[in-house]
Amino acid sequence: ETLWLVVPAAGQGRRMGADRPKQYLELDGRPVLAHTLARLHAAFPGARLCLCLDPDDDRFEPAWVPFAEWRRVTGGAERVDSVANALAAIAAEAGDDDLVLVHDVARPCVTVADLQRLRAALTDDPVGGLLAAPVADTMKRDDGAERVASTEPRAGLWHALTPQGFRFGLLRRALAAALEAGVTVTDEASAVEALGLAPRLVSGRRDNLKITHPEDLALAGQILAAQRA
Ligand code: C5P
Repeated sequence: ETLWLVVPAAGQGRRMGADRPKQYLELDGRPVLAHTLARLHAAFPGARLCLCLDPDDDRFEPAWVPFAEWRRVTGGAERVDSVANALAAIAAEAGDDDLVLVHDVARPCVTVADLQRLRAALTDDPVGGLLAAPVADTMKRDDGAERVASTEPRAGLWHALTPQGFRFGLLRRALAAALEAGVTVTDEASAVEALGLAPRLVSGRRDNLKITHPEDLALAGQILAAQRA
């Protein structure tokens, strides 16, 4: 069975405030992107990779890609556009029932065990699903002026992580519908949910951090070191 990996890496990462997109920041002597692709390859060496990059990206080096079969796809304005471009690029080869795992380039700390557990959990799932972790903090909603409007019960709340995995045909329909409706979707699962389906929550490690803010880079380095120990 063909496994497809889509890695959106076309973001600018403005919240990092760095001199380059976050996927090119150095972590243990290698760019974040190289770490992320190495983890994915360790889990799924035979998978086919689709990497979404900004058309003006002049930092990317093919030597960072460990996969035998991969292609570069032009990213879009938003993450959802980048992933939709990837699906369009593989449409001639992908079967509707092929599993597609979408993983943020900014999550280099995902473990091989979690990747393989997710795939196993989705093998016979008619909908698909995502790695997720239960929320630990008490959740507050603000009033728009940095005061608490309400406390949201945290029971039953999860952090949506990646990868998120769905069958090619379903994911393509879901993203097309979301783009058509013009609704903002920040992950693949929410596009599938909008079709009235319920993606599976596969409990994953909380240290599957998405590098977003400046302090996250050092944290990711510590997580990788701890995972090696
Ligand atoms: O900005 P954020 O961390 O939410 O981005 C999540 C992922 O989506 C990152 O891997 C980023 O590179 C990617 N992305 C993309 N195309 C965009 C915006 C974000 O591939 N237009």
